[in-house]
Amino acid sequence: MNQLTTFEQSLTLFRERFTDLVKRYDGTSHKSSELERVIDDYSAFILDEGNKASWEALEQQVGNELPLLLADLRKMSSLCVAIMEKYRALKLLDGEVDNTDYFKNIESCIEQEFGSFQVTEGSIVLLIGSGSFPMTPLFIAKRTGAQVVGIDIDEEAIELGRKVIHKLGSELNIRLEKSFIEQLDIIKDVTHIIFSSTVSNKYELLEQLYDLTNEQVVVAMRYGDQLKSLFNYPMQAVDEGRWRLVDTILRPDHVFDIALYKRNS
Ligand SMILES: C[S@@+](CC[C@H](N)C(=O)[O-])C[C@H]1O[C@@H](n2cnc3c(N)ncnc32)[C@H](O)[C@@H]1O
Repeated sequence: MNQLTTFEQSLTLFRERFTDLVKRYDGTSHKSSELERVIDDYSAFILDEGNKASWEALEQQVGNELPLLLADLRKMSSLCVAIMEKYRALKLLDGEVDNTDYFKNIESCIEQEFGSFQVTEGSIVLLIGSGSFPMTPLFIAKRTGAQVVGIDIDEEAIELGRKVIHKLGSELNIRLEKSFIEQLDIIKDVTHIIFSSTVSNKYELLEQLYDLTNEQVVVAMRYGDQLKSLFNYPMQAVDEGRWRLVDTILRPDHVFDIALYKRNS
């Protein structure tokens, strides 16, 4: 069997495993170890240099099922990451701790997130897609004293996220809301915005943010191209009259990279 066929079969198998795990989420953490194992395997698969050539070869083929497979994998792996955060939250609230590679990946990124546009005590940070285990808000608020607002479209993620914050950082200036960006009272005062990588419409929201934000705001867009696009929504071109790409923070050993945008006034 050639390398490309093996690669495609691995992708199809990951899709089956993710789909099955999404179906089996029941609001408890009973299936957590299986899901964590699959996500760790998938992260390792994406970071494996040996898979780069197969990815490039697959991209060159015309008329294959890659676009559909890619769309399914992004959607299913995003749902699985969201569920993994739920498991982590449920376990913490039950008194357990866990430390999967995926979370180490996220935690290591937070330090680099804004490049030279540092967050300080006076900053107001908005995280779009805060999830059930809001590591980014906790870390930023703890390290800098900044005010952090997290929003999410998933009610369960907001509820679990609030309990996690209460347990790990009740003294911190963090607020989580099930809200749309245009409904946020502080949107004009926000200094830094972070997009979770698995928010599918993040570039539409960036477009919308132009009319809502102040001129100094800096946006950190988590994204993944090429092989990493199997796990992340990729970078897209922006309206250059509105947003300017000021930096990209490439992280070869991590599942996503970061693009920094500033307004073009
Ligand atoms: C799993 S979490 C965070 C994942 C990871 N920390 C990252 O950077 O991608 C992603 C969250 O984004 C939320 N989400 C997806 N689309 C969204 C949107 N349009 N607006 C707000 N939250 C969204 C999901 O409900 C999920 O809880």
